[in-house]
Amino acid sequence: MSALNEKKVAALEAVKYIKSGMTVGLGTGSTAFYMIEAIGEMVQNGLELKAVATSDETEKLAKKLGIHVITLAEAKRLDVTIDGADEVDEDFQLIKGGGGALLREKIVAHNSDMNIIIADSSKSVSKLGKFKLPIPFATQLIIKELEGMKLAPVQRKRGAEDYKTDENNDIVDIDIWDTDIKLTDLEQQLKTIPGIVETGLFLTTTNLVIIGKGEKAIVKRR
Ligand code: A5P
Repeated sequence: MSALNEKKVAALEAVKYIKSGMTVGLGTGSTAFYMIEAIGEMVQNGLELKAVATSDETEKLAKKLGIHVITLAEAKRLDVTIDGADEVDEDFQLIKGGGGALLREKIVAHNSDMNIIIADSSKSVSKLGKFKLPIPFATQLIIKELEGMKLAPVQRKRGAEDYKTDENNDIVDIDIWDTDIKLTDLEQQLKTIPGIVETGLFLTTTNLVIIGKGEKAIVKRR
């Protein structure tokens, strides 16, 4: 079965956790797309909910499908957030941010009572780090500092231009595969560098992982 079908299988399993009256966080990316589409259909069939989007792209899609989008400040707290991931390990730790939306995704995850991660089976890994870890940042000097930490930073590009996030930050993708620093320590070290806005490491927020594997959805609870 193709990755696209597995994404859909996981997304359709995840939306079963949404009940009328909830405030829901909507993730970003190709897997989240199927979840937003399914929620749009549920709303058209009468389900009442409010949603907070994790990117401009998600907000546009949700509004087009008739989903009532509000800001995080208006929502204050979310019942559940459903989002994709670039890698998921056995300890519910994630790398996110391939689509550049990690800053808002992390803020939304932090403010959700429950976080469900949906993914196709290629995203399930025993060790994080084959996927380069995205970091949104605000100063060029940071690249030098990350080079000094032997993290092989590469400025993300869109064509010839530097990539810009919805918040107008640059992104640097770093290689953490061979680092012997514990992920929690690495996360802390990176965030002490002024100008690093966030990292794509989501180490503690996930409650439920739903992996599409063939026709089945494999549900793992933390
Ligand atoms: C967006 O910035 C990301 O965090 C996505 O959630 C992640 O890259 C997964 O995207 P796909 O579902 O498109 O693989």
